[in-house]
Amino acid sequence: MLESQLQNLAASARERILSAASPEQLEAVRVEVLGRKGALAEISKGMGKLTPEDRAQIGKLLNTAKNDLEAALEERRNRFANEALQARLDAEWIDVTLPAPGPRPGTLHPLTRIQQELEDLFTSMGVAVLDGPEVESEYNNFDALNIPPDHPARDMQDTFWLGDGLCLRTHTSPVQVRGMAKLGPPLRMIAPGRVFRNEEVDASHEHTFYQLEGMMVDRNVSIAHMLYFMKTLLSHIFGREVTVRLRPGYFPFVEPGFELDIQCLICGGPGCAVCKQSGWVELLPCGLVHPNVLRQGGIDPEQWGGFAFGLGLTRLVMMRYGIDDIRHLQSGDLRFLRQF
Ligand code: DAH
Repeated sequence: MLESQLQNLAASARERILSAASPEQLEAVRVEVLGRKGALAEISKGMGKLTPEDRAQIGKLLNTAKNDLEAALEERRNRFANEALQARLDAEWIDVTLPAPGPRPGTLHPLTRIQQELEDLFTSMGVAVLDGPEVESEYNNFDALNIPPDHPARDMQDTFWLGDGLCLRTHTSPVQVRGMAKLGPPLRMIAPGRVFRNEEVDASHEHTFYQLEGMMVDRNVSIAHMLYFMKTLLSHIFGREVTVRLRPGYFPFVEPGFELDIQCLICGGPGCAVCKQSGWVELLPCGLVHPNVLRQGGIDPEQWGGFAFGLGLTRLVMMRYGIDDIRHLQSGDLRFLRQF
């Protein structure tokens, strides 16, 4: 009686183990049959009532059934584990033969790019590229450029004063002074660089920006020479003719002085934040070098003449790339920089 009950139980448990659809179902069968209060435990509890011979025989069967079922459980568990592993391998498959993305190469800052382009252009025209310090003497930044102390033109540029007769240069024009001393007449030089002004920052003003100074000294230099240079420069930069206008402009170091404006390339004329709604952008102040400046540079104004210009490099970059806010340039924002 007990023997057939045991055999039926073992057979059906085995069936359920082999057909269990999930590890949870398998565990439920295990608890029901092999658990501490499971069916096999129930049977072994009733064995006390049996004769010693029956007890020995049933005990043996019970053990065999238990071992068999445990082996079946183990096997089914392994199958579940293998299936789970296989599913994971299929899902997390990596093709190790794919080429690696590699480090992303950097790009040149748009200012650097334009500066290098202009240096190449001018070098090809036989012009020297000079460098000057960003911390400059008051003398080079102002006095030697015909802006003596108390001259109202000093107020045109809000200066960061450093004490001891030093300041952060407010323009690249002091490199004219250094260039005259270094090269002597005749000379052709440009000086690109960073300049500083104590200004309120907005879409078109920065306390730190870039200029490119130019100076040519030779005999019989005229405004026609100057204009030829400006036009070559602008058509090279923009790759086409741009609309320009020349206005008289006052700068103590040139006489006569001019403002060369270009039509705003961001809005094309109607006005925007960059051109301050005027449709024009001041880009190229220029003029014939003032005799006092030549004299300060040790050059005889009776013998020599010259022209000079101070290109707003930062503005130029903004025009060329259609950047509508000067603050992007020094933001260090990679989303901005990676576009170039
Ligand atoms: N240094 C002037 C400034 O930053 C710009 C300038 C004007 C430079 C006329 C020149 C020049 O060389 O001739 O405002």
